[in-house]
Formats: sequence, C-alpha cells, structure tokens
Amino acid sequence: RLLIVDFGSQVTQLIARRLREANVYCEIHPFNHVDDAFLDDFAPRAVILSGGPASVPEAGSPRPPARIFDLGVPVLGICYGQQVMMQMLGGEVVRTPGSAEFGRAYIEPTDEPLELMRGWFHGGREQVWMSHGDHVSRLAPGFRPFATSPGAPFAVVADPERRFFATQFHPEVHHTPGGKTFLANFVALAGFSGDWTMGAYREQAVDAIREQVGDARVLCALSGGVDSSVAAALLHEAIGDRLTCVFVDHGLLRKNEAEEVVGMFRDNMNLSVIHADESDLFLTALEGVSDPEQKRKIIGALFIEVFEKHARAIGGAEFLAQGTLYPDVIESVSFSGGPSVTIKSHHNVGGLPEKMGMKLVEPLRELFKDEVRALGRELGLPDSFIGRHPFPGPGLAIRCPGEITREKLAILREADAIFIDQIRRHGLYDDIWQAFVAILPVRTVGVMGDGRTYDFACALRAVSSVDGMTADYYPFSHDFLSETATRIINSVRGINRVTYDITSKPPGTIEWE
Ligand code: XMP
Repeated sequence: RLLIVDFGSQVTQLIARRLREANVYCEIHPFNHVDDAFLDDFAPRAVILSGGPASVPEAGSPRPPARIFDLGVPVLGICYGQQVMMQMLGGEVVRTPGSAEFGRAYIEPTDEPLELMRGWFHGGREQVWMSHGDHVSRLAPGFRPFATSPGAPFAVVADPERRFFATQFHPEVHHTPGGKTFLANFVALAGFSGDWTMGAYREQAVDAIREQVGDARVLCALSGGVDSSVAAALLHEAIGDRLTCVFVDHGLLRKNEAEEVVGMFRDNMNLSVIHADESDLFLTALEGVSDPEQKRKIIGALFIEVFEKHARAIGGAEFLAQGTLYPDVIESVSFSGGPSVTIKSHHNVGGLPEKMGMKLVEPLRELFKDEVRALGRELGLPDSFIGRHPFPGPGLAIRCPGEITREKLAILREADAIFIDQIRRHGLYDDIWQAFVAILPVRTVGVMGDGRTYDFACALRAVSSVDGMTADYYPFSHDFLSETATRIINSVRGINRVTYDITSKPPGTIEWE
C-alpha cells in the first residue's frame, strides 16, 4: 500500500482519487500521526508528501519523520512536500517577496529523460497548476531538474537513483492534464500492479466501520439520495441489525418519493426503514416563513428533534451515520485557514451531532460522487437508484420561494413529476446533473379556453455539473421546452405559466434558495 502524508492541502484527497483511478490502494494520514513506529507498522511501498499551507522556512512548520527517506521506497513530494523534502535532504527553501505563483503555468522538459514523465510531454511544453508561496532555491545533493518553467526552475526534480521525486506544481488536479500519467508512472515504478478495485474498497470500508463503531448502535438518516443510501447499505453490511435507518417524511418530498425509497431498501437491501411521517410537524412550523435561511434552520432543528425521538425509541444510539462526501467536506472547510462565507446552511455537515451528543460515522467522507455511485453498484443498489439526481435535505422547501403552503407543494409535485418524466422520455436524465421545478411566489394572468386564469408561474431548472460546485444550465431544444410547458399547463391545475431558468452557477446557485 501507498502512504500519503497529509500536510493540509485542500487537494490531498485528489491524490488519493487519482491513485484509486490507477487501481492502487492508498491511505491518507495527517503528518502528526506519522512517526517511526507508524511507518514500521504501515510498511508503505511508496510515500507521497502532500502540499500544505505552512511555510518550510518558518520555525515549527511540519516535517515528516526523516525515516521516510531511509525506507528504500520511492518518495514523491508535491509542492510543500517538495520543499520539505529538499530542506530535510540538504537543499534550501526560501520565501522571497514576489516568488508566489498561483494558477496555470507551462513547464518544459530538460534534456535528460525521466521515467515518471514518460507519455506526458507531446508538444514540448505542458500545462501545470501551481499554488505556492515559497520555492526551492538550492537542490539537495543528488537531485537534478527534469522540467522547468520561467518561474519555476525546479518544476520537476528527481534523484532517480534513490527514486526520490518532487514537483513544485500539483499533479493531482484537473488543471495539470498530464498529472494523471505522472502519478500512474510513479505507482508503476513503485511496483504496484494496479489490481485494487471498488470491491476491495468495500471490504476496507466495512472493516473501518466495525473498528470505529464497536458494539454500539447507529442511527442513519436516509434522505432518499444516493449518498445516504450507499452509506446505509455499507453500514448494514458492517453492523447488521445494530443499524436503524429513519426516513423522515417532512412533507417536502417529491411525488411518490417516500414509497420509492422505503420500497427500494425493503426489496433490494432487505433492510427495514422506519418511515417517519412528520409532515404536520414540519409544515406547521414553516407556516408563514418565507426567509430561506430561516426555513433551513427550522428544518434542520426539527430533523434533530425527530432523530432524537427515534434514537430514544431504539434505546439510544451512540453514532449518527451521514453520507457526507469529500466535496461537502471541502465546501465546509475554509480555504487556507481563512474564514469562508456561508452561502447556504447545508445541514448535512456539522452542527447536528454535537447538539445530539452523538458521534459521527461518515463512511463516504473520502469519496467523490462518481466513486460513491460505483460503490453503490458494488453493494447491489439498483442502477435506477444510483443514477438518481441529488435531492437536498430541505426538499421542496427551497424550491418554493416565499411562503410554503400545502397547496403550492401539491402543485409543485405534479409539475416536477411531469418535467422529470419528459426528461426520461427524451433519454436525457443521465446527461443532466439535477433537474427540478420551482414554484414561484407570483400569480400571473393567462387565458385558457375563453376564460381568464390567475395562477402560479413556475420555473424549470436543469443543470450540468461534475460536482455541484459549479454548474451550467442544460441546453434543451426549443421543441423539448415547449412540449414540456404545454404538458404542465394542460395537466397541472394551478400553473398557467412556465419559464426556463438559464442561470449558471456561479452567479446563481442550483437551488433557488
Ligand atoms: P446549491 O443550490 O448550493 O446546491 O448550488 C448545490 C447542491 O447541493 C444541494 N443542496 C443541498 N443538499 N442539504 C443537502 O443535502 C442542503 O441543505 C442543500 N442545499 C443544496 C443541491 O440540491 C445541489 O445538488
């Protein structure tokens, strides 16, 4: 196995992801957990030192144990990892004003070929992504440069005899297109055969859950989305009956949603789910509320109340399971330690377990959405379920700007079901990241038959996205849009006008609230 020593970079998990793509098993451990005893026990076949926000010349900045360089295994240092490696092996790192470099840069290979760069440089120079304040001013003995840029003479350096490599840029990010090849070459050179699979991940994840949870009981909040469903399936495999799943029906679900979700778990996973119909509780509390953050806070607080009730009913649960993914973790952590702005209070991260006095189990915390889907398939969840569009915890509440009423929710459910049916009929569902209808808080005048109507307007929303962090509106054909609008207006009483939302994210968000 491969060890990634984490110095706190925002993108450390991407290193792991790239290695999983190359079918190599790796583990990320924070630098302060990695000592000599740990290394003896772990016995890595290769080590990667990640980037991080600290500065090598500064006193007290983190160091890995020197033993790493005596293991006789290949070591790759990335960004901070490069600098720490150079410093510890006898080179020098400086912080000079103006030496910071962020974003796109282009590097060129030197004359001497390097195994790790095989298959990368096609046209002479290649794009990489830099993000650093310090730089190496003198290489450690034995190291030579293998790629350079005007701003980074030591973009790629190596001591090929000792199999030590280091890059000033981040090979793990999307904006270093050749980085995947570079990392794949690194693991091949370390002797990994690339036969690790999602099946193996499943086994490791099950072992990790058993170790964390012990004999305790776990409560899992199912939202009907892919993430919490996969988390529940994994937990069920790990701890069986000690898992209790609660599906909270807050009255803000889509048409037939509760039946579909509860049925899927019963029929496919042999897992019984408590279907908690709490719609009166939620809808009463939301009466007259139109502020989006207030809606989210009310819903979040009631979720806690409902979970507490169910935890008590099963005689207490020590753990709460959540389907938090890696992008949720990044979005909730501030960049470089600075305060980040709360755009929306996503309530699946933070807050909840502290108030409940429960510990968290988050078995998907390291994974990206497409990996969660692959794991779900591995666990036997049906494809129809795995491919479902994401659905937010606060449900239709945030698709109903302004005051929420039962009448509006009923209209919204019907319109939404037609839109999704249209998308499926036209074979577009899997091309789209997420699609839904929002009901607008305005009535407009229309004419149907020979009569005047005064009904709600709605907006169709459909976006393409890779991770939900950025998104673009989906380019439906005009025929598709007019067919959908006609179907909605003809069959949903209460809507007489249909619009299509063509805002990307940013500046918009995917949901309307
Ligand atoms: P926004 O609207 O922020 O949404 O662009 C990005 C993605 O997150 C989903 N979303 C949520 N998911 N709890 C959730 O579980 C929430 O409070 C929440 N708010 C937004 C949204 O549906 C989209 O996929």
